[in-house]
Amino acid sequence: MAATEPSSPAIPRHLAIIMDGNGRWAERRHRPRIIGHRAGARAVNVCIDFCILKGIQALTLFAFSSENWGRPESEVGALMKLFMNALEREVDELDRRNVRIRFIGQRERFTPAIVARMASAELQTASNTGLQLSIAASYGGRWDITQAAHALAADVAAGQLRLEDIDEDAMANRMTLADVPAPDLFIRTGGEMRISNFLLWQMAYTELWFTEALWPELDAATLQRALDHYGSRERRFGLTGAQVAPIQESSE
Ligand code: FPP
Repeated sequence: MAATEPSSPAIPRHLAIIMDGNGRWAERRHRPRIIGHRAGARAVNVCIDFCILKGIQALTLFAFSSENWGRPESEVGALMKLFMNALEREVDELDRRNVRIRFIGQRERFTPAIVARMASAELQTASNTGLQLSIAASYGGRWDITQAAHALAADVAAGQLRLEDIDEDAMANRMTLADVPAPDLFIRTGGEMRISNFLLWQMAYTELWFTEALWPELDAATLQRALDHYGSRERRFGLTGAQVAPIQESSE
């Protein structure tokens, strides 16, 4: 694997991805859906390699939504086994590559064995300074906003925070990923053009890119197309083009 390429303004600091299309990839091959998820796990490695190569600081992957618990029991069970195996297999190598791993979502819904694995992966990689890899598991954007509101309300009830001090910054500081820049670029594979309760708060100004490619088909060329699209965007954050031009020039 080549070292990190020199950074350029077209490189997002934080990439957020909905990995969609595993089931269809398998169905097209007349194989069980879990085969698609296994192929999806391989695509996760392609994606991590690409992010490290490009010097992307943070990658957040939507692995399992709050709603995915409603899938057939056999698929949920197989996915849990896959997560367990992936954790067992990949963590040492990711640690060696200076990747910091964390999980966001309602982890109390997982079995104690998976929760313990998640905690151990986080502990093992906690001081790593390379790619910040967040796995959204049993995650929903509405849950994230609700837990932040709950935390602030608890502080107010305990007399540690005044009601008038609740503002956007206070909320942002209680969201998951508060210490990571908001996603600059969102990618969804699998052809659907929606954000499906992913990082609702954090993606207010994120550039969106969709592809028909199914997640297991992911390759570096597809990811590069997303980066090229990102590089062509003028990010205005609610300002005018004339206002942001000097800001963008000064960051080059
Ligand atoms: C969505 O495709 C994908 C999932 C619900 C699971 C994602 C899991 C992986 C990529 C595998 C391993 C991940 C990690 C982090 C180890 P879908 O099943 O909804 O596909 P479909 O829309 O074609 O049915």
